Amino acid sequence: MTLLDFLDERKSVRIFDPKAQISNREIMDILAHASDAPSGNNFQPWKVFVVKNKEKQAILKNFSFNQQQVADASAIFLIFGNKSNYDIQKIMKFNLENCIISESQLIEKTNRVRTYLKLHPEDISNEGLRFDNGLFAMNLMHIIRAFGYESNPMRGTDFQKIMEFLNIPQNLVPILMLPIGKPLKAGYPHQRYPINDFVKIIE
Ligand SMILES: Cc1cc2nc3c(=O)[nH]c(=O)nc-3n(C[C@H](O)[C@H](O)[C@H](O)COP(=O)(O)O)c2cc1C
Repeated sequence: MTLLDFLDERKSVRIFDPKAQISNREIMDILAHASDAPSGNNFQPWKVFVVKNKEKQAILKNFSFNQQQVADASAIFLIFGNKSNYDIQKIMKFNLENCIISESQLIEKTNRVRTYLKLHPEDISNEGLRFDNGLFAMNLMHIIRAFGYESNPMRGTDFQKIMEFLNIPQNLVPILMLPIGKPLKAGYPHQRYPINDFVKIIE
């Protein structure tokens, strides 16, 4: 299979083997790779809760219009936007500690981020959270497949009820529910608008 085939073949899978298990080690590895996703100023404003418990999943299914994939998945990834990572001092400290910048560059790099955010204040609002976490989630879906699992991005769920049930801090912004598991049935074939409907090449 070529890389292109691999990427094309990601589809939403909704029928999972309820007996298939995933180890915590695999979950952590998957998320470590997924965090290579880009984000504005490398703020990495994501927070992920992973539910790996069939009784809890049955309750999450009730909050999700009874969508069966929530109960049967090997794990449920709950992706939240974490606005507290939109913190210039925190990322600059990280950049210094990881030798991404030197002490002598600190002021210039800090000012550069401030100038960027004056131009794009929306990047550190809920809009930015949706955008950065969308990139993270897409990367995560491909990584999940590289580990031999499939997934289904979902927002058809009551995040407020989930947050109360799992005691998830209210300052986090719910982005996506992502059940992952071993497929018993493939996803539907892709149906998309023709390429000419959305592309214009300007020469
Ligand atoms: C924001 C978002 C919310 C979605 N919510 C659900 C959902 O609640 N249940 C579901 O079965 N699929 C859900 N989907 C999956 C879409 O239906 C699916 O991605 C789309 O039909 C294209 O199919 P594909 O993922 O197989 O390419 C959601 C996808 C996105 C991006």
